[in-house]
Amino acid sequence: MDQPARDATQDYVAWFRNSSPYINAHRGRTFVVMISGEAVQEPGFHHIIHDLALLNSLGIRLILVHGARPQISARLSAQNIYTRFERHTRITDAAALEAALDAVGAVRLRIEGLFSMGLANSPMHNASIQVVSGNFVIAKPVGVRDGFDYQHTGEVRRVQVDAIRRQLDDGNIVLLSPIGCSPTGELFNMNSEEVASTTAIAMKADKIIYLGEDTGVVDADGRLVREISPQEAGQLLAREIIQNPTTERQLTAACHAASNGVARAHLVNFREDGALLRELFTRDGCGTLVTRENYENVRGAYIEDVGGILELIEPLEAAGALVRRSRERLEAEIKRFTITERDGMVIGCAALYPFNDGQSGEIACVAVHPDYRNADRGRKLLEHLEKRARSQGIHTLYVLSTLTAHWFQEQGFAPIPVDELPGERKSLYNYQRNSKVFRKQL
Ligand SMILES: CC(C)(COP(=O)(O)OP(=O)(O)OC[C@H]1O[C@@H](n2cnc3c(N)ncnc32)[C@H](O)[C@@H]1OP(=O)(O)O)[C@@H](O)C(=O)NCCC(=O)NCCS
Repeated sequence: MDQPARDATQDYVAWFRNSSPYINAHRGRTFVVMISGEAVQEPGFHHIIHDLALLNSLGIRLILVHGARPQISARLSAQNIYTRFERHTRITDAAALEAALDAVGAVRLRIEGLFSMGLANSPMHNASIQVVSGNFVIAKPVGVRDGFDYQHTGEVRRVQVDAIRRQLDDGNIVLLSPIGCSPTGELFNMNSEEVASTTAIAMKADKIIYLGEDTGVVDADGRLVREISPQEAGQLLAREIIQNPTTERQLTAACHAASNGVARAHLVNFREDGALLRELFTRDGCGTLVTRENYENVRGAYIEDVGGILELIEPLEAAGALVRRSRERLEAEIKRFTITERDGMVIGCAALYPFNDGQSGEIACVAVHPDYRNADRGRKLLEHLEKRARSQGIHTLYVLSTLTAHWFQEQGFAPIPVDELPGERKSLYNYQRNSKVFRKQL
């Protein structure tokens, strides 16, 4: 039997290992995924369904919201029905509502059908996923605005949070459509992007992901914007830089979600095979992230960060740059660590070990992930530790280093003989490792 090339196998193993922190980070979280009507029409749409099924098997609580705009338009034009748009919103008259019900029903059933696939040679073999649709979104009429009666066009009045939560608790995927029912029993055609953002806010979702036609948001110079705050995105929208109307609607809704408690709103291209998985399971993803949060911050470490720190330092230990630390030791010493966190991932760390004299301490385990070096992160970690040291009354810092002598010198540390280490540390000095010793007065 042919063996796969060794490199390919190793790539796969490395990829699988690298994704494990994300798998842990995402498990038990609630994600709302908005699937545009355009995505449903794509020939590769079943791949997106397979990826969503995978997310469900990894323990992510999924609420899907589908659109049906092109499908509704196709039905209307087949019947020669003209509908008017006001402020990017379709005015749904009785004929248009019939077309919308027809299109939405067809799209919803198509999605349910794809989730039921279980052929032995498909990624969904043995998956047995329950998709639950229903009257989870209560609608109200948009009404008459600026003299225009929007008729059967509606907006979200309320999301049945508890009912959705019960389905998610049972491991089901909840599928929402852009048709909502009112307490009077009428049906309303709604904006699917708004259904998604309102649901994400009501459910206190951890993420909302819009699968759209663009790779993400592109700035005035044509460059992909990897991360943007709702304020900055608002400026792009106001300057009419976003060309694609679907992307514009998605970005508007993403900003609304991000400004109302949804920590992360992603825009991802459905045409890129695997884009959803790349966005969720790789360090830098491939779309645009709208977030109010400081995407990267330096903070004290918690016990939950142990896995991420180990992930970061193990290759450096293997290369001899850092002294080996076991998981048990790290767990016991976690309070001494400061980390740089980026979108939930540990990309830098450093530790401060106070000596018994209460006035001096040792800086150790300073590391920044190779992909993120030379951007001042090491210096900021050190600054954070120095501040921490001062607050504990420590005014002399020592560091032992084999490979990073010059870097520490540039941070204000001066070389000293081993003999000048405080007694308790000198007795533990490893002469075989032969580290250089540095000191800095704060
Ligand atoms: C040392 C380390 C933490 C620096 O992280 P960083 O985020 O890149 O640091 P900064 O951005 O603040 O500093 C980068 C500068 O330091 C320099 N630098 C990095 N490593 C260096 C080294 N080993 N020796 C000398 N200079 C070094 C870079 O060239 C850069 O200088 P430049 O801006 O003039 O080009 C990182 O390189 C690392 O993790 N190294 C491996 C682990 C290690 O050896 N840790 C120390 C043991 S306690």
